[in-house]
Amino acid sequence: MGVSVHHISQWKQTGQPTSPIAVLTAWDTISGQIVDQAGADIVLVGDSLAMVALGYETTLPLTVEEMLLCARAVRRGVKNALMVVDLPFLSYQASLEEAIRTAGRMLKETGAQAVKLEGGHRAVAETVQRLVEWGIPVMGHVGLTPQSVNQFGGFRKQGKSQAEADRILAEAKALEQAGAFSIVLEHIPAELAYTITKALGIPTIGIGAGGNCDGQVLVTADVLGLSAWQPPFAKVYANLREQAIVAAQQFCGDVRSGQYPG
Ligand code: KIV
Repeated sequence: MGVSVHHISQWKQTGQPTSPIAVLTAWDTISGQIVDQAGADIVLVGDSLAMVALGYETTLPLTVEEMLLCARAVRRGVKNALMVVDLPFLSYQASLEEAIRTAGRMLKETGAQAVKLEGGHRAVAETVQRLVEWGIPVMGHVGLTPQSVNQFGGFRKQGKSQAEADRILAEAKALEQAGAFSIVLEHIPAELAYTITKALGIPTIGIGAGGNCDGQVLVTADVLGLSAWQPPFAKVYANLREQAIVAAQQFCGDVRSGQYPG
């Protein structure tokens, strides 16, 4: 049996597993296979794939159809981890009906077990509550929510002032109250992430939010050193981009010199 939403939502109560939750992103079958076989508890088909895999400058242009295509590909590579899919920008904000339809399609047409959406203000919490009522598990996401990059004026750390910190804490509590099974805390001060983690009964998953969250997530292209640029909080464990370029250069050279196929 693979990892379930129930398993993650009860993680703090049961203390099982005792180690923090490991979450990695995926955007196609190969990346899904890699992170699943590496033992990630959760594979997130994050809308960061808009930038990582599709070459957009932000996550905003990503469409529902593009997300469905990528998520179905990831599904074919993931056997054990819990699979969560991001709802693209403007696919859940306009109305509750649209949110239910988009989130339902993500589960129905990709085989994912849950969706993630950004923000925690009143309308978002109401949406989360309705999705959960209809049997669609939801992971929340507060702090730096990249779909609001224009509002923030860049991918800046959030929650630095007391007023912002209070708002983010209130949003996290509202999402838990609405039925979210876990919450991503992105690029906020470590002390705020600690306060939120202590205040909630559901697990927090940090990214650029210090070491006191219940789990950690990174974008796999950053972890593998595949992306041309990494955010300051990412840890790069390999240099696959450079290795891949060298391998491809060797092939080109071998073809041109007649060494391949030999
Ligand atoms: O889109 C994404 O990959 C995410 C993670 C960075 C949390 O939302």
